[in-house]
Amino acid sequence: MATSMAAAAPEGLKPVPGDGGLPFLGQTLSMLRDPLGLAQRRYAQYGPVSWGKVLGKRMVALYGPEAAEAVLVNRDKAFANGPAWSFFIGPFFYRGIMLMDFEEHLHHRRIMQQAFSRDRLRSYQKAMSPSITRGLDSWQPGDFKVLPNFKQLTLDLAMDVFMGVELDRAQADRINKAFIDAVRAGLSIIRYPVPGGRWRRGLRARRTLEAFFNEHLPAKRADGGDDLFAALCQAETDDGHRFSDEDIVSHMIFVLMAAHDTSTITMTTMAYYLAKHPEWQERVREESRALGKETLDFEDLDRLVSLDLVMKECLRLVAPVPGLPRETVKDTSVLGYHVPAGTMVTISPNVNHHIADYWPDPDRFDPERFSADRREDKIHQYAWEPFGGGVHKCIGLHFGGMEVKSVMHQVLLRYRWTVPAEYEWPLDMSTLPVPKDGLPVQLERI
Ligand code: HEM
Repeated sequence: MATSMAAAAPEGLKPVPGDGGLPFLGQTLSMLRDPLGLAQRRYAQYGPVSWGKVLGKRMVALYGPEAAEAVLVNRDKAFANGPAWSFFIGPFFYRGIMLMDFEEHLHHRRIMQQAFSRDRLRSYQKAMSPSITRGLDSWQPGDFKVLPNFKQLTLDLAMDVFMGVELDRAQADRINKAFIDAVRAGLSIIRYPVPGGRWRRGLRARRTLEAFFNEHLPAKRADGGDDLFAALCQAETDDGHRFSDEDIVSHMIFVLMAAHDTSTITMTTMAYYLAKHPEWQERVREESRALGKETLDFEDLDRLVSLDLVMKECLRLVAPVPGLPRETVKDTSVLGYHVPAGTMVTISPNVNHHIADYWPDPDRFDPERFSADRREDKIHQYAWEPFGGGVHKCIGLHFGGMEVKSVMHQVLLRYRWTVPAEYEWPLDMSTLPVPKDGLPVQLERI
Protein backbone atom coordinates (compact mmCIF):
# COMPACT_ATOMS: atom_id res chain seq x y z
CA MET A 1 0.00 0.00 0.00
CA ALA A 2 1.35 3.42 -0.95
CA THR A 3 2.16 5.77 1.93
CA SER A 4 4.30 8.86 2.24
CA MET A 5 7.58 8.65 4.12
CA ALA A 6 7.24 11.63 6.41
CA ALA A 7 3.80 12.93 7.21
CA ALA A 8 5.18 16.31 8.23
CA ALA A 9 7.13 17.81 5.36
CA PRO A 10 8.06 21.45 5.91
CA GLU A 11 5.87 23.97 4.20
CA GLY A 12 6.38 24.17 0.47
CA LEU A 13 7.84 20.65 0.25
CA LYS A 14 6.08 17.39 -0.57
CA PRO A 15 6.49 14.16 1.45
CA VAL A 16 8.18 11.36 -0.49
CA PRO A 17 5.60 8.80 -1.75
CA GLY A 18 6.30 5.06 -1.76
CA ASP A 19 5.65 1.71 -0.13
CA GLY A 20 7.58 -0.86 1.92
CA GLY A 21 6.78 -3.89 -0.29
CA LEU A 22 6.66 -7.37 1.27
CA PRO A 23 6.82 -7.83 5.07
CA PHE A 24 10.48 -8.16 6.18
CA LEU A 25 11.90 -8.45 2.68
CA GLY A 26 10.55 -5.22 1.26
CA GLN A 27 11.58 -5.00 -2.42
CA THR A 28 14.90 -6.83 -1.86
CA LEU A 29 14.12 -9.89 -3.99
CA SER A 30 12.82 -7.85 -6.97
CA MET A 31 15.83 -5.57 -6.61
CA LEU A 32 18.25 -8.50 -6.76
CA ARG A 33 16.37 -10.27 -9.58
CA ASP A 34 15.38 -7.42 -11.87
CA PRO A 35 16.45 -4.01 -10.57
CA LEU A 36 15.74 -2.28 -13.87
CA GLY A 37 12.20 -3.69 -14.10
CA LEU A 38 11.51 -2.76 -10.45
CA ALA A 39 12.79 0.77 -11.01
CA GLN A 40 10.75 1.21 -14.17
CA ARG A 41 7.56 0.11 -12.39
CA ARG A 42 8.24 2.48 -9.51
CA TYR A 43 9.13 5.36 -11.79
CA ALA A 44 5.84 4.84 -13.64
CA GLN A 45 3.89 4.59 -10.36
CA TYR A 46 5.50 7.32 -8.24
CA GLY A 47 7.66 9.46 -10.53
CA PRO A 48 11.29 10.46 -9.95
CA VAL A 49 11.31 10.33 -6.12
CA SER A 50 9.92 7.41 -4.08
CA TRP A 51 10.76 5.36 -1.03
CA GLY A 52 10.98 1.58 -0.68
CA LYS A 53 12.62 -1.03 1.52
CA VAL A 54 15.72 -2.92 0.46
CA LEU A 55 18.06 -5.11 2.56
CA GLY A 56 16.07 -4.15 5.64
CA LYS A 57 16.56 -0.44 5.09
CA ARG A 58 14.28 2.35 3.91
CA MET A 59 15.76 3.92 0.83
CA VAL A 60 14.67 6.78 -1.36
CA ALA A 61 15.12 6.03 -5.05
CA LEU A 62 15.90 9.05 -7.19
CA TYR A 63 15.31 8.56 -10.91
CA GLY A 64 16.18 10.77 -13.85
CA PRO A 65 19.04 13.19 -14.55
CA GLU A 66 17.54 16.16 -12.63
CA ALA A 67 17.50 14.20 -9.38
CA ALA A 68 20.99 12.83 -10.13
CA GLU A 69 22.29 16.35 -10.68
CA ALA A 70 20.82 17.61 -7.39
CA VAL A 71 22.60 14.87 -5.45
CA LEU A 72 25.90 14.75 -7.32
CA VAL A 73 26.37 18.52 -7.39
CA ASN A 74 25.42 18.45 -3.70
CA ARG A 75 25.15 22.21 -3.34
CA ASP A 76 24.22 22.26 0.35
CA LYS A 77 26.58 19.38 1.24
CA ALA A 78 23.64 17.32 2.47
CA PHE A 79 24.59 14.03 0.77
CA ALA A 80 27.46 11.94 2.13
CA ASN A 81 29.13 8.92 0.57
CA GLY A 82 30.70 7.37 3.67
CA PRO A 83 27.65 6.24 5.63
CA ALA A 84 25.84 5.10 2.48
CA TRP A 85 28.61 3.14 0.76
CA SER A 86 29.73 1.78 4.15
CA PHE A 87 26.35 0.08 4.51
CA PHE A 88 27.15 -1.99 1.39
CA ILE A 89 30.92 -2.37 1.31
CA GLY A 90 32.27 -0.69 4.45
CA PRO A 91 33.72 -3.77 6.22
CA PHE A 92 35.56 -4.75 3.03
CA PHE A 93 36.59 -1.42 1.51
CA TYR A 94 36.86 0.96 4.50
CA ARG A 95 39.13 3.99 4.08
CA GLY A 96 38.72 3.75 0.30
CA ILE A 97 38.48 7.25 -1.18
CA MET A 98 34.91 6.76 -2.37
CA LEU A 99 33.86 6.21 1.26
CA MET A 100 35.32 9.53 2.43
CA ASP A 101 33.51 12.84 2.58
CA PHE A 102 33.90 16.60 2.38
CA GLU A 103 37.26 17.99 3.67
CA GLU A 104 38.87 14.61 4.20
CA HIS A 105 37.80 13.40 0.77
CA LEU A 106 39.14 16.54 -0.88
CA HIS A 107 42.46 16.14 0.90
CA HIS A 108 42.89 12.52 -0.22
CA ARG A 109 41.60 13.22 -3.72
CA ARG A 110 44.22 15.96 -4.20
CA ILE A 111 47.00 13.55 -3.35
CA MET A 112 45.54 10.70 -5.39
CA GLN A 113 45.06 12.94 -8.41
CA GLN A 114 48.88 13.01 -8.78
CA ALA A 115 48.75 9.32 -9.65
CA PHE A 116 46.37 10.06 -12.56
CA SER A 117 48.16 12.97 -14.23
CA ARG A 118 48.60 12.93 -18.02
CA ASP A 119 52.24 11.91 -17.69
CA ARG A 120 51.35 9.07 -15.35
CA LEU A 121 48.62 7.89 -17.73
CA ARG A 122 51.09 7.94 -20.58
CA SER A 123 53.47 5.67 -18.67
CA TYR A 124 50.66 3.32 -17.58
CA GLN A 125 49.63 3.07 -21.22
CA LYS A 126 53.18 2.17 -22.20
CA ALA A 127 53.35 -0.56 -19.56
CA MET A 128 49.96 -1.91 -20.51
CA SER A 129 50.40 -2.76 -24.21
CA PRO A 130 52.97 -5.58 -23.89
CA SER A 131 51.01 -6.93 -20.93
CA ILE A 132 47.85 -7.13 -23.05
CA THR A 133 49.76 -8.89 -25.84
CA ARG A 134 51.04 -11.48 -23.35
CA GLY A 135 47.56 -11.99 -21.92
CA LEU A 136 45.97 -12.49 -25.35
CA ASP A 137 48.67 -14.99 -26.36
CA SER A 138 47.10 -17.48 -23.97
CA TRP A 139 43.58 -17.25 -25.46
CA GLN A 140 42.47 -20.45 -27.18
CA PRO A 141 40.17 -20.22 -30.23
CA GLY A 142 36.96 -22.28 -30.28
CA ASP A 143 34.45 -22.31 -27.41
CA PHE A 144 35.45 -19.33 -25.33
CA LYS A 145 33.96 -17.62 -22.27
CA VAL A 146 34.46 -13.90 -22.48
CA LEU A 147 33.82 -12.80 -18.88
CA PRO A 148 36.38 -14.95 -17.01
CA ASN A 149 39.01 -14.26 -19.65
CA PHE A 150 38.54 -10.49 -19.52
CA LYS A 151 38.50 -10.66 -15.75
CA GLN A 152 41.77 -12.54 -15.70
CA LEU A 153 43.28 -10.12 -18.18
CA THR A 154 42.23 -6.97 -16.31
CA LEU A 155 43.49 -8.38 -13.03
CA ASP A 156 46.83 -9.31 -14.61
CA LEU A 157 47.00 -5.80 -16.10
CA ALA A 158 46.17 -4.26 -12.76
CA MET A 159 48.98 -6.27 -11.16
CA ASP A 160 51.46 -5.12 -13.83
CA VAL A 161 50.38 -1.53 -14.20
CA PHE A 162 49.13 -0.80 -10.70
CA MET A 163 51.34 -3.05 -8.62
CA GLY A 164 54.43 -3.43 -10.76
CA VAL A 165 54.72 -7.07 -9.67
CA GLU A 166 54.31 -10.29 -11.59
CA LEU A 167 52.33 -12.99 -9.81
CA ASP A 168 52.29 -16.68 -10.58
CA ARG A 169 48.90 -18.13 -11.54
CA ALA A 170 48.13 -19.42 -8.03
CA GLN A 171 48.89 -16.05 -6.39
CA ALA A 172 46.90 -14.16 -9.04
CA ASP A 173 43.93 -16.50 -8.56
CA ARG A 174 44.05 -16.02 -4.80
CA ILE A 175 43.99 -12.23 -5.11
CA ASN A 176 41.33 -12.29 -7.82
CA LYS A 177 39.14 -14.47 -5.59
CA ALA A 178 39.66 -12.12 -2.66
CA PHE A 179 38.42 -9.18 -4.76
CA ILE A 180 35.40 -11.16 -5.93
CA ASP A 181 34.53 -12.23 -2.36
CA ALA A 182 34.87 -8.67 -1.05
CA VAL A 183 32.59 -7.27 -3.78
CA ARG A 184 29.98 -10.04 -3.49
CA ALA A 185 29.81 -9.64 0.29
CA GLY A 186 28.39 -6.13 -0.16
CA LEU A 187 24.97 -7.35 -1.29
CA SER A 188 24.64 -10.30 1.12
CA ILE A 189 21.12 -10.74 2.40
CA ILE A 190 22.56 -12.07 5.70
CA ARG A 191 24.77 -9.22 6.82
CA TYR A 192 26.85 -10.80 9.58
CA PRO A 193 29.62 -13.39 9.55
CA VAL A 194 27.86 -16.78 9.68
CA PRO A 195 30.14 -19.72 8.75
CA GLY A 196 30.13 -20.32 4.99
CA GLY A 197 28.31 -17.03 4.34
CA ARG A 198 29.23 -14.29 1.87
CA TRP A 199 29.80 -11.72 4.62
CA ARG A 200 32.39 -13.85 6.37
CA ARG A 201 34.17 -14.58 3.08
CA GLY A 202 34.27 -10.83 2.45
CA LEU A 203 35.95 -10.16 5.81
CA ARG A 204 38.50 -12.87 5.16
CA ALA A 205 39.14 -11.39 1.71
CA ARG A 206 39.90 -7.98 3.23
CA ARG A 207 42.52 -9.57 5.49
CA THR A 208 44.09 -11.38 2.52
CA LEU A 209 44.28 -8.14 0.54
CA GLU A 210 45.74 -6.13 3.43
CA ALA A 211 48.44 -8.75 3.99
CA PHE A 212 49.23 -8.79 0.28
CA PHE A 213 49.65 -5.02 -0.09
CA ASN A 214 51.49 -4.66 3.23
CA GLU A 215 53.97 -7.30 2.12
CA HIS A 216 54.87 -5.30 -1.00
CA LEU A 217 54.73 -1.82 0.55
CA PRO A 218 58.29 -1.44 1.89
CA ALA A 219 59.81 -2.26 -1.51
CA LYS A 220 57.51 0.25 -3.22
CA ARG A 221 58.35 2.99 -0.75
CA ALA A 222 62.05 2.30 -1.33
CA ASP A 223 62.26 1.72 -5.08
CA GLY A 224 59.59 3.88 -6.65
CA GLY A 225 58.71 2.97 -10.23
CA ASP A 226 56.12 3.80 -12.86
CA ASP A 227 53.21 1.86 -11.41
CA LEU A 228 50.19 3.24 -9.54
CA PHE A 229 51.32 1.71 -6.23
CA ALA A 230 54.62 3.60 -6.50
CA ALA A 231 52.77 6.70 -7.65
CA LEU A 232 50.60 6.63 -4.51
CA CYS A 233 53.74 6.19 -2.38
CA GLN A 234 55.36 9.21 -4.02
CA ALA A 235 52.28 11.41 -4.51
CA GLU A 236 52.64 14.71 -2.71
CA THR A 237 50.56 17.88 -2.94
CA ASP A 238 52.14 21.32 -3.39
CA ASP A 239 51.90 21.84 0.36
CA GLY A 240 53.76 18.58 1.06
CA HIS A 241 50.94 16.19 2.08
CA ARG A 242 51.54 12.47 1.45
CA PHE A 243 49.71 9.23 2.23
CA SER A 244 50.46 7.11 5.31
CA ASP A 245 51.17 3.36 4.89
CA GLU A 246 47.63 2.47 6.06
CA ASP A 247 46.16 4.94 3.59
CA ILE A 248 48.15 3.48 0.72
CA VAL A 249 47.01 -0.06 1.50
CA SER A 250 43.34 1.00 1.78
CA HIS A 251 43.53 3.09 -1.39
CA MET A 252 45.20 0.29 -3.36
CA ILE A 253 42.52 -2.21 -2.27
CA PHE A 254 39.78 0.21 -3.25
CA VAL A 255 41.31 1.43 -6.51
CA LEU A 256 42.09 -2.08 -7.76
CA MET A 257 38.55 -3.14 -7.05
CA ALA A 258 37.14 0.00 -8.68
CA ALA A 259 39.37 -0.47 -11.71
CA HIS A 260 39.19 -4.09 -12.62
CA ASP A 261 35.53 -5.01 -12.25
CA THR A 262 34.30 -1.94 -14.06
CA SER A 263 36.57 -2.33 -17.08
CA THR A 264 35.85 -6.06 -17.23
CA ILE A 265 32.13 -5.32 -17.38
CA THR A 266 32.62 -2.63 -20.03
CA MET A 267 34.66 -4.92 -22.28
CA THR A 268 32.31 -7.88 -21.76
CA THR A 269 29.35 -5.69 -22.73
CA MET A 270 31.24 -4.50 -25.81
CA ALA A 271 32.06 -8.11 -26.74
CA TYR A 272 28.37 -9.03 -26.41
CA TYR A 273 27.01 -6.20 -28.54
CA LEU A 274 29.78 -6.54 -31.12
CA ALA A 275 28.91 -10.25 -31.42
CA LYS A 276 25.20 -9.43 -31.77
CA HIS A 277 26.01 -6.72 -34.34
CA PRO A 278 28.75 -8.15 -36.60
CA GLU A 279 28.55 -5.10 -38.89
CA TRP A 280 29.78 -2.98 -35.97
CA GLN A 281 32.45 -5.54 -35.14
CA GLU A 282 33.76 -5.23 -38.71
CA ARG A 283 33.54 -1.44 -38.61
CA VAL A 284 35.64 -1.10 -35.45
CA ARG A 285 38.06 -3.76 -36.68
CA GLU A 286 38.59 -1.86 -39.96
CA GLU A 287 39.30 1.30 -38.00
CA SER A 288 41.87 -0.53 -35.87
CA ARG A 289 43.46 -2.02 -39.00
CA ALA A 290 43.61 1.43 -40.58
CA LEU A 291 45.84 2.60 -37.72
CA GLY A 292 48.43 0.11 -38.94
CA LYS A 293 49.75 -0.74 -35.45
CA GLU A 294 49.43 -3.86 -33.37
CA THR A 295 49.40 -1.93 -30.10
CA LEU A 296 48.02 1.50 -29.28
CA ASP A 297 50.11 4.47 -28.28
CA PHE A 298 48.72 7.13 -25.98
CA GLU A 299 48.26 9.52 -28.93
CA ASP A 300 46.15 6.94 -30.83
CA LEU A 301 43.40 6.79 -28.23
CA ASP A 302 41.32 9.56 -29.82
CA ARG A 303 41.71 8.14 -33.29
CA LEU A 304 39.47 5.11 -32.78
CA VAL A 305 36.27 7.08 -33.22
CA SER A 306 33.85 4.19 -33.81
CA LEU A 307 35.29 2.19 -30.92
CA ASP A 308 34.68 5.24 -28.75
CA LEU A 309 31.01 5.35 -29.87
CA VAL A 310 30.62 1.65 -29.07
CA MET A 311 32.23 2.06 -25.66
CA LYS A 312 29.95 4.96 -24.76
CA GLU A 313 26.85 3.11 -25.92
CA CYS A 314 27.84 0.01 -23.93
CA LEU A 315 28.45 2.12 -20.82
CA ARG A 316 24.95 3.50 -21.35
CA LEU A 317 23.25 0.14 -21.93
CA VAL A 318 24.97 -1.56 -19.00
CA ALA A 319 26.36 0.94 -16.51
CA PRO A 320 29.04 -1.06 -14.63
CA VAL A 321 28.17 0.77 -11.39
CA PRO A 322 24.37 0.61 -11.58
CA GLY A 323 23.63 2.48 -8.35
CA LEU A 324 25.20 5.34 -6.39
CA PRO A 325 24.04 5.47 -2.77
CA ARG A 326 24.22 8.52 -0.51
CA GLU A 327 22.98 9.34 3.00
CA THR A 328 21.68 12.74 4.01
CA VAL A 329 23.59 14.36 6.86
CA LYS A 330 20.97 17.12 7.20
CA ASP A 331 17.42 17.83 6.10
CA THR A 332 17.29 18.68 2.43
CA SER A 333 15.03 18.49 -0.61
CA VAL A 334 15.18 16.94 -4.06
CA LEU A 335 12.85 18.17 -6.82
CA GLY A 336 10.54 19.65 -4.20
CA TYR A 337 10.38 16.51 -2.01
CA HIS A 338 11.40 16.65 1.63
CA VAL A 339 14.31 14.31 2.42
CA PRO A 340 15.07 14.32 6.17
CA ALA A 341 18.54 13.85 7.69
CA GLY A 342 19.64 10.21 7.98
CA THR A 343 17.88 9.04 4.80
CA MET A 344 19.59 6.64 2.42
CA VAL A 345 19.05 7.70 -1.21
CA THR A 346 20.19 6.05 -4.44
CA ILE A 347 20.85 7.38 -7.91
CA SER A 348 20.64 4.77 -10.63
CA PRO A 349 22.76 5.43 -13.73
CA ASN A 350 21.49 2.21 -15.26
CA VAL A 351 17.85 3.23 -14.82
CA ASN A 352 18.51 6.77 -16.02
CA HIS A 353 20.19 5.40 -19.13
CA HIS A 354 16.98 3.57 -20.06
CA ILE A 355 14.40 6.34 -19.60
CA ALA A 356 12.65 6.81 -22.94
CA ASP A 357 12.02 10.54 -22.26
CA TYR A 358 15.78 11.07 -22.61
CA TRP A 359 16.93 8.20 -24.81
CA PRO A 360 14.85 7.34 -27.89
CA ASP A 361 14.37 3.56 -28.15
CA PRO A 362 16.51 3.14 -25.02
CA ASP A 363 17.08 -0.64 -25.18
CA ARG A 364 18.43 -0.53 -28.74
CA PHE A 365 22.19 -0.76 -29.36
CA ASP A 366 22.79 2.38 -31.41
CA PRO A 367 26.32 3.77 -30.96
CA GLU A 368 25.60 6.55 -33.47
CA ARG A 369 23.45 8.25 -30.84
CA PHE A 370 26.77 9.59 -29.49
CA SER A 371 28.02 10.75 -32.93
CA ALA A 372 28.81 14.45 -33.41
CA ASP A 373 25.61 15.13 -35.39
CA ARG A 374 23.28 13.39 -32.91
CA ARG A 375 24.79 13.65 -29.42
CA GLU A 376 21.67 12.36 -27.65
CA ASP A 377 23.59 12.53 -24.38
CA LYS A 378 23.52 16.33 -24.61
CA ILE A 379 19.84 16.38 -23.67
CA HIS A 380 20.99 16.77 -20.06
CA GLN A 381 24.41 17.02 -18.44
CA TYR A 382 23.57 14.04 -16.24
CA ALA A 383 21.69 11.94 -18.82
CA TRP A 384 24.84 9.84 -19.46
CA GLU A 385 26.51 9.26 -16.13
CA PRO A 386 28.37 5.93 -16.04
CA PHE A 387 31.22 7.64 -14.20
CA GLY A 388 29.02 9.52 -11.73
CA GLY A 389 29.57 13.25 -11.28
CA GLY A 390 30.52 15.97 -8.83
CA VAL A 391 33.46 15.63 -6.44
CA HIS A 392 33.38 11.81 -6.45
CA LYS A 393 33.33 11.53 -10.25
CA CYS A 394 35.42 8.52 -11.26
CA ILE A 395 39.08 9.41 -10.94
CA GLY A 396 39.95 6.53 -13.28
CA LEU A 397 37.70 7.42 -16.19
CA HIS A 398 40.58 8.22 -18.56
CA PHE A 399 42.52 5.23 -17.34
CA GLY A 400 39.43 3.05 -17.88
CA GLY A 401 38.88 4.34 -21.43
CA MET A 402 42.54 3.83 -22.20
CA GLU A 403 42.52 0.26 -20.92
CA VAL A 404 39.29 -0.72 -22.64
CA LYS A 405 40.40 0.69 -26.00
CA SER A 406 43.90 -0.78 -25.77
CA VAL A 407 42.53 -4.24 -25.04
CA MET A 408 39.74 -4.11 -27.62
CA HIS A 409 42.13 -2.86 -30.31
CA GLN A 410 44.38 -5.87 -29.87
CA VAL A 411 41.48 -8.31 -29.56
CA LEU A 412 39.89 -6.97 -32.76
CA LEU A 413 43.10 -7.34 -34.73
CA ARG A 414 43.67 -10.91 -33.58
CA TYR A 415 40.21 -12.45 -33.21
CA ARG A 416 36.68 -12.52 -34.61
CA TRP A 417 33.91 -13.77 -32.32
CA THR A 418 30.28 -14.79 -32.85
CA VAL A 419 27.17 -15.89 -30.95
CA PRO A 420 24.13 -17.73 -32.36
CA ALA A 421 21.57 -15.29 -33.81
CA GLU A 422 18.96 -16.16 -31.15
CA TYR A 423 21.38 -15.82 -28.20
CA GLU A 424 20.41 -13.24 -25.53
CA TRP A 425 22.76 -12.95 -22.59
CA PRO A 426 21.38 -13.67 -19.09
CA LEU A 427 22.49 -10.63 -17.16
CA ASP A 428 22.92 -11.06 -13.41
CA MET A 429 22.28 -7.75 -11.69
CA SER A 430 22.53 -9.00 -8.10
CA THR A 431 25.88 -7.24 -7.57
CA LEU A 432 27.60 -5.59 -10.50
CA PRO A 433 26.08 -6.53 -13.88
CA VAL A 434 27.69 -9.65 -15.40
CA PRO A 435 26.36 -12.42 -17.69
CA LYS A 436 25.47 -15.49 -15.62
CA ASP A 437 26.80 -17.81 -18.33
CA GLY A 438 30.13 -15.94 -18.67
CA LEU A 439 29.18 -14.99 -22.27
CA PRO A 440 30.10 -18.05 -24.36
CA VAL A 441 31.24 -17.17 -27.91
CA GLN A 442 32.97 -18.90 -30.81
CA LEU A 443 36.41 -17.34 -31.04
CA GLU A 444 38.29 -17.48 -34.32
CA ARG A 445 41.87 -16.36 -34.93
CA ILE A 446 42.28 -14.03 -37.92
C1 HEM B 1 34.92 1.86 -17.29
C2 HEM B 1 35.13 1.81 -16.15
C3 HEM B 1 34.66 2.56 -14.92
C4 HEM B 1 33.41 2.96 -14.52
C5 HEM B 1 32.11 2.79 -15.26
C6 HEM B 1 33.56 3.61 -13.24
C7 HEM B 1 32.52 4.16 -12.52
C8 HEM B 1 32.69 4.90 -11.36
C9 HEM B 1 31.63 5.61 -10.68
C10 HEM B 1 30.18 5.63 -11.09
C11 HEM B 1 32.18 6.24 -9.60
C12 HEM B 1 31.47 7.17 -8.63
C13 HEM B 1 30.88 6.48 -7.42
C14 HEM B 1 30.08 7.42 -6.55
O1 HEM B 1 29.97 8.61 -6.84
O2 HEM B 1 29.50 6.95 -5.58
C15 HEM B 1 33.57 5.91 -9.60
C16 HEM B 1 34.47 6.34 -8.65
C17 HEM B 1 35.78 5.95 -8.62
N1 HEM B 1 36.46 5.22 -9.57
FE1 HEM B 1 35.70 4.49 -11.27
N2 HEM B 1 34.87 3.57 -12.89
C18 HEM B 1 35.58 2.95 -13.89
C19 HEM B 1 36.94 2.72 -13.94
C20 HEM B 1 37.82 3.07 -12.95
C21 HEM B 1 39.24 2.84 -13.01
C22 HEM B 1 39.97 2.21 -14.18
C23 HEM B 1 39.75 3.31 -11.83
C24 HEM B 1 41.18 3.35 -11.37
C25 HEM B 1 42.21 3.26 -12.13
C26 HEM B 1 38.65 3.85 -11.06
C27 HEM B 1 38.77 4.40 -9.80
C28 HEM B 1 37.74 5.05 -9.15
C29 HEM B 1 37.92 5.71 -7.87
C30 HEM B 1 39.20 5.78 -7.05
C31 HEM B 1 36.68 6.27 -7.54
C32 HEM B 1 36.32 7.08 -6.29
C33 HEM B 1 36.54 8.54 -6.56
C34 HEM B 1 36.16 9.43 -5.39
O3 HEM B 1 35.34 9.06 -4.56
O4 HEM B 1 36.71 10.53 -5.34
N3 HEM B 1 37.50 3.69 -11.76
N4 HEM B 1 33.87 5.10 -10.69
